[in-house]
Amino acid sequence: MAMKPVTFTLNGLAKAAFTEDGQNLLDFLRRGVGDMAPKYGCGQGGCGACTVLLDGVPHLSCLTLAETVEGRRVDTASGLAGATISPLQEAFMDRFAAQCGYCTPGMLMAATALLAKNPRPNRDEVIEAISGNICRCTGYEPIIAAILDVAEGRVGA
Ligand code: FES
Ligand code: FES
Repeated sequence: MAMKPVTFTLNGLAKAAFTEDGQNLLDFLRRGVGDMAPKYGCGQGGCGACTVLLDGVPHLSCLTLAETVEGRRVDTASGLAGATISPLQEAFMDRFAAQCGYCTPGMLMAATALLAKNPRPNRDEVIEAISGNICRCTGYEPIIAAILDVAEGRVGA
């Protein structure tokens, strides 16, 4: 199997690793680089559990060829917390917006991209931003509330 070197930035750190021919970014990040935050849900673009940011824009890593991140910036939920958890993570905890937690890394990245582009989204804009992310546990309301808590300054102000 042909291997190809890929250099990119992951959560602010320079990375270099080999990707296998045709390997998707989700598999590359988890098996090749050891970032286990993006989750395998469906492998077909239908659940959003694998969502990562490429140059700040949400992408489904299960449908993205790993080699296409050459020279680009990749952000995952692993990079959200610094010395402490991020305001979004705090809001998710406060609102009990993570139950099994399987959707959470993808939700957090979709919300991160939204808030970076639009720091004060309304409820409809939040719903639109996470519309590609399936949660089987929460009924979505706690997730929407958590994102709005950050947007409206109740957390992380
Ligand atoms: Fe990528 Fe479901 S695993 S969208
Ligand atoms: Fe379980 Fe969302 S918390 S799928």
